[in-house]
Amino acid sequence: MNLEECTLFPYDSEMHESCYPFDCAHKDLNEFFEKDAINYSAELLGKTYCFTLDKDPQLIVAAFTVSNDSIKTTHLTSGPKTRVTKNIPRVKTMRSYPAVLIGRLGVNKQISRKGIGCEVMDFIKAWFIDGKNKTGCRYVVVDAYNEKMPIDFYTKNGFELLFSTEQQEREYLKLPTDYPLKTRLMYFDLIILR
Ligand SMILES: CC(C)(COP(=O)(O)OP(=O)(O)OC[C@H]1O[C@@H](n2cnc3c(N)ncnc32)[C@H](O)[C@@H]1OP(=O)(O)O)[C@@H](O)C(=O)NCCC(=O)NCCS
Repeated sequence: MNLEECTLFPYDSEMHESCYPFDCAHKDLNEFFEKDAINYSAELLGKTYCFTLDKDPQLIVAAFTVSNDSIKTTHLTSGPKTRVTKNIPRVKTMRSYPAVLIGRLGVNKQISRKGIGCEVMDFIKAWFIDGKNKTGCRYVVVDAYNEKMPIDFYTKNGFELLFSTEQQEREYLKLPTDYPLKTRLMYFDLIILR
């Protein structure tokens, strides 16, 4: 199976009621898609979309939530700042670079590890460099769970860690040194697809 056999829909109450329950094998994400996603959309806090399988339109293959974000360089130390700005001309004139945040992403557990997650990532990247976009969007950003699998997944999809060490990220977030870092900020520069 691949995404060519699927159709994208906004995840609204009609979809929620007509589709089988979505299970991506992650408790918090399942709960979000089940209970919160539609309210987030209604409050304009994050819009959720889903791909359903054309031959069984009640089956959600993957779901994701996106919202506007930015990478603000004002409080970044030189390493992360250079990473973000190295390919941007006239860097001194900007303190904040437009981005889209992938707030949630899940693939149906029945079809995990078959390349669907990567296809969804390619779709989202292409979506935000589409000439019809109303706003500029330079980066895709994610707060990836600080575990091997999600970080490997995003790395495989061309994302880089904004902070090279957990300690740098803790300092940026003003967290105590021994505080467990639940997520890592990762980014993808869309300009390379242009
Ligand atoms: C993370 C997720 C979206 C990946 O979707 P997927 O369709 O299974 O991913 P793909 O088949 O495209 O896999 C791409 C790469 O991700 C990594 N990966 C995915 N699932 C993995 C697993 N179970 N164990 C280890 N690595 C895994 C691998 O690097 C894999 O490449 P490989 O197959 O060449 O080794 C999916 O597993 C999921 O929904 N997980 C639960 C929710 C979650 O953790 N979301 C991420 C939020 S930060």
